[in-house]
Order: sequence, then structure tokens, then C-alpha cells
Amino acid sequence: MAKHIQAIRGMHDLLPEQSPLWQFLEDRVRGVFERYGYREIRTPILEMTELFRRSIGEVTDIVEKEMYTFEDRNGDSLTLRPEGTAGVVRAGIQNGLFHNQTQRLWYRGPMFRHERPQKGRYRQFHQIGLEAFGLAGPDIDVEVILVTRRLWQALGLEGLELQLNTLGTAAERAAYRQRLVDYLERHREQLDGESRRRLATNPLRILDSKNPEMQALIEAAPALIDHLGDGSRAHFDGLCRGLDEAGVPYVVNPRLVRGLDYYGLTVFEWVTGRLGAQGTVCAGGRYDGLVEQLGGRPTPAVGFAMGVERLVALLEEQRDGLPLRQPDAYLVLMGDEAARRGMQLAEQLRGQLPELRLITHCGGGSFKSQFKRADRSGARLALVLGEDELARGVIGIKTLRRAGEQQEIPLQRLAEALPEWLRTAETA
Ligand code: HAM
Repeated sequence: MAKHIQAIRGMHDLLPEQSPLWQFLEDRVRGVFERYGYREIRTPILEMTELFRRSIGEVTDIVEKEMYTFEDRNGDSLTLRPEGTAGVVRAGIQNGLFHNQTQRLWYRGPMFRHERPQKGRYRQFHQIGLEAFGLAGPDIDVEVILVTRRLWQALGLEGLELQLNTLGTAAERAAYRQRLVDYLERHREQLDGESRRRLATNPLRILDSKNPEMQALIEAAPALIDHLGDGSRAHFDGLCRGLDEAGVPYVVNPRLVRGLDYYGLTVFEWVTGRLGAQGTVCAGGRYDGLVEQLGGRPTPAVGFAMGVERLVALLEEQRDGLPLRQPDAYLVLMGDEAARRGMQLAEQLRGQLPELRLITHCGGGSFKSQFKRADRSGARLALVLGEDELARGVIGIKTLRRAGEQQEIPLQRLAEALPEWLRTAETA
């Protein structure tokens, strides 16, 4: 037998048993985004490599070691997108979306990072993200966070913690960077190899180190939030005030630095303790410099992205309480004549009842085996059509999720009677 070809490590199939949970999440998210006036944008999965180098930053983990980059047949260097923000900004500039306009946009889709796979961390993963352009004040930062809070409510997710920080302006970061480097240099012997390397390239990322032996050093390091200018302070205070007024609890985490270089001022993450090491389910912040950096006019911007696999993992725990829609009915067909007529009957019903989810049995087989399939399909009702029913112009009907005798309805009355049958089967 030929050897099975396996999926690429860290890349997963979404099987039919799992897709209802994804659809539930996607539907709820879209509904919430629309309520705040965000519109969907779809951009290509492949972009010029240069786009990510210039936006995410040369000395970030993503660009240094995680991108899927290759040359295409023309010799262009292309990269499978590791995140969505850069592509949305590129598309906005290219299509003139930022000219004297504000834009509230959202997107979803697969992203690719060559990370070490583990629970909650994959090489192909999915994000749903949101970006607001053209608004500079903390009010939109507040709105973006309110959207996320409403999402958790709409999904029934509890126990997520909002962590906030500010990264100030580029000038404040540069001054702070020097202060931090001076401090870390003085304690160089306590730094691990990775952090020593970052000291020269990206020292702020050292604050993000998970190495337990460095935690005391990191705790005692100077914090950027204590060295802000008036403008940055006012922005952060405005954000905190807005969240207080909206009743959104948060924790200020001065060590929150994020792994992408484009951020300034607000950064935030929603974290849970229920997913082990990969507990960040949503992350984002402000990136006022990025549009200009990529060739557009200066345009303030703020946004976030959620990790769909991580949110689904949380939803998985409460799966039983979720309104996931199963098929309504399964049509059992005994005999050739019934099989033919049944196919027509099913089409007719779908035409008459636009919401109806009906599976028609195909391929014949015994009554017992057909009923087994009906049961396994998750449908609430079985409809039974055989030679005998056909001859008498009736159809058998039986609830599958609770006890009850099979009954009969005249075929002409079926479309009329079905909704009531489904309602009763539902409340069972
Ligand atoms: P990020 O923090 O790199 O930010 O990713 C956002 C979220 O995507 C993470 O919090 C996590 O839930 C999920 N995620 C990231 N990598 C993986 C992975 N390998 N496997 C599973 N899930 C993952 C961004 O990507 C920014 N573009 C967010 C943003 C939008 N900032 C402003 N606008």
C-alpha cells in the first residue's frame, strides 16, 4: 500500500465535528463587529516579504526565524502572512482607503509562523482581527477594547484578564531603551544567552523573557510607563478613564511589550490561565507610525487579533451549553420507488421551508441501518417513506432525541406540520 502523506507538522485539518464550534465563534464575532460598524476586508495570504520586514521589524522573532519565505518562479521573495495587520495596511494604502477617512475594518484567516508546535501554538493558525484607522485619541482604543469585552459576552467566555501597558512615543522608547540597556549591562552576568544577544538588537523584548532565573532582574528593571512624556501619559490616562467609566477591569502590566515592532502608546492582551503556556487569546495595540512607514500618509491606527484555535479551546470546555445547530430531520427511504420519490419530496420541502436542514438517505440498506445513520446524524426527527406509506399517501415521523411512537402524517400536510414537530422535539 502506498505510504500515507501526512499534513505538515503544526498544520491541522478542521474536521466536521469541530467546524460547528468554529462557525458559532465566527458568526458571533461577525455579529459583534458589525454592531460597531466594522467592515470586513480580505487580503491575499501571500505578500512580498519586504512588507513584513518593514512592518513587523527586522529583529523580531517572527521575521528572524518564523516566516515561511520562498522565491516564486519570477525570483520575487514572497512570504505566507504571519499576521494580518501588515496586509491590511498595505491594502489600505494601495486602495486609497486612508485618504481623509476613518476606516473600521476586520479580517479573518490563516496565518503562518514556523514556531515550535505545542498546545495552543501552531504553524498554521487562524486569527480574527480588527483595525481602526484615522483616529488618534484614546476613545477609539477604549472602543476597540469594548468590542472585545462584548465578544467574550457573546461567546459566553468568562475569566479573561485584560492587561494593559503603554509603549510611549518612538523618542520615549529610544530614551528608555538606553536606560534599560544601562541597567541590564550592569547585571550582564544574570542574563541568559538569548537576552545577551537581544541587548544589542531588541532589548525591550528581554522584558518578555519567560526564563524564571531572570524574573527578579526583570521585576526590578526600570519601566517605560514611569518615563512617559505628557502626551503619552495623557493618552494612557484617557484610556484608563474610559475603561473605568465603562466598567472594564484591567491590570496595568509594565512588562507587556509585544513581539512586533510597530506598536507605540497603547498595547494590551487578554489572557487566561486555562490554556497553559499559550494563554493569550487576543492581543493588540496602537501603531500610529505604520501607515507612513509603509509609504502612506501619516494615519493613526489601533487594532487587535484573536487566536481562533485558543478561543475554540476555551469554548470546547463549555460545548454542551452552546446552541450548535444540528440537522432537523433525516429522511429514511425504503425501496426503489420511495428512494426516487423521496429525493423529490426532500427538494420540495426545502423549497417550502427555507430554514429546514434535511438529510436524505442515499444508498439504500435495511431499515435498521438507515435508522442508525439517522440517529448518528444528530437530527431531531426521522421521516420514514416506504412502499406502504407511498401507497397510502402518508409519511412516518418519529422523534429521535426522546422516546415516542412513530406517527403518520398525510404527505400533503407534511410541510405544514413539520415546524410544529420540530419545535416540540426541540423542547424535549
Ligand atoms: P500577535 O500577538 O502576534 O499579534 O498575535 C495575536 C494572537 O494570535 C495571539 O494572541 C494568539 O492568540 C494568536 N497566535 C499568534 N501566534 C500563534 C500561533 N503560532 N498559534 C496559535 N495562535 C497564535 C498580531 O498578530 C498583531 N497583528 C495583532 C494586532 C492587530 N495588532 C494590531 N492590530
